[in-house]
Amino acid sequence: MSNLSTQSYKGTRDYYPEDKRLQNYIFKVWREAAEGFGYEEYGAPLIEPLEIYTAKSGQELAGEQTYAFQDRGERMVAIRPEMTPSVSRMVAARRQEMPMPSRLYSIANFMRYERPQRGREREFWQLNADLFGVEGAMADAEIIELSYACVMGFGATEDMFKIRVNNRQLINQLMSEFLGLDFIGATMMTKLLDKKDKLPVEEFKRQAISIFGADAEKGLPKLADLISISTLEALPPGLANLPSVVEMRQVMQSLKKKGINNVVFDVTLMRGLDYYTGTVFEFFDTSPENNRALFGGGRYDGLVGLFGVEPVATVGVGLGATTMQQFLEVHKLLPRFASHTDVYVAVVDESVVDGADALARKLRSEGVRVELDITGRKLDKQIKTALKKQIPFVAFVGEDELSSGVYTVRNLVDSSEEKMDAVRMVTVVRDRRYDGDDDAVFEV
Ligand code: HAM
Repeated sequence: MSNLSTQSYKGTRDYYPEDKRLQNYIFKVWREAAEGFGYEEYGAPLIEPLEIYTAKSGQELAGEQTYAFQDRGERMVAIRPEMTPSVSRMVAARRQEMPMPSRLYSIANFMRYERPQRGREREFWQLNADLFGVEGAMADAEIIELSYACVMGFGATEDMFKIRVNNRQLINQLMSEFLGLDFIGATMMTKLLDKKDKLPVEEFKRQAISIFGADAEKGLPKLADLISISTLEALPPGLANLPSVVEMRQVMQSLKKKGINNVVFDVTLMRGLDYYTGTVFEFFDTSPENNRALFGGGRYDGLVGLFGVEPVATVGVGLGATTMQQFLEVHKLLPRFASHTDVYVAVVDESVVDGADALARKLRSEGVRVELDITGRKLDKQIKTALKKQIPFVAFVGEDELSSGVYTVRNLVDSSEEKMDAVRMVTVVRDRRYDGDDDAVFEV
């Protein structure tokens, strides 16, 4: 038999400690942002009945990208491709008891059968933050503000990304009244516009002509007019006072008041999922090296009601960790991380390993994270291991150290050395953490 492959399943990643450190950093910033707005964490199962996705998530996600299979009890189930139907189900199940409004967040992994490419994996992680029970522009603006905090929390600046907003009702009106499309034509045009940035211009045009059919001659110039609209004021006369436009103006004004200045109206922003009913938005990277959507969300007032309870007005966002990591890399916003272990206790001579163990225990009882080398290897090997693991301090323990209680401690980040007792070691570690250096750069 040939050897088993060490490769992870196509489109998935292994997370070694250094990868997990980076991912945990992203999650930490997101968690702080979500909790800062009063969102509370929840969890949901990895598997759901397939039908909760086929109901409203759209053919692409539910039909083509979902890992669906029959379980041993002959139920059709799916590995979750997104969180929105699960959290809607959870809210519906406690419709009466849940305090409203409910602000909920989760950080979880999902699977979609997609072609792996830059920014797209088959297993990926998202922060989901959803606000249940509030209608209107203030709620929409809050979700966008929270999303903004999730990016700014890494030290980003507004020029690094743009927030594009649109409104599903306005899209529907533009499709039917302005472009003159029937329901099927409107649905197809919405999907086509959703893919616009990914298609060559000629292919986009070809598909648009086929959607317009006999009306293509009249339709195409109108579509070109539509695409060229870049502000709410430039919308065709008669549309400016539509409730959807008024609401969008309120969302944009509210964001302005919050000090968010990189928001633009984008008439071509569709968002692929079927359940959106109002405001939709997407964050876009402005770097030429990564000119792409980072993540998005929107209002979906109809999902909770699908579970047989009184509907709940809802708005939310799903932030992907894959695209966020690329954004942080492109804009050089990622620190290099040291290990979370503070001290590596290196044992100079095997005969003192019990004493070294006692020191490790003492330090741990004070909250210091300690790895003890119990291999009996040469000292230089022990130091190399600590370096490889990016542990910031090595404490050397030999007979003299044990009898005096004073240890040589090497700081592997700046290569300095200091003699100190256990109490001082605790202080040094705490100071480093207090300086916010816990996630800090580890230059070797
Ligand atoms: P979505 O646009 O399908 O929306 O996904 C949101 C984000 O998740 C994407 O913009 C991207 O950052 C990340 N993402 C999606 N698919 C992949 C993939 N294959 N690989 C890597 N990252 C991916 C939703 O999922 C909605 N449920 C969001 C939502 C929550 N709307 C309201 N509440």
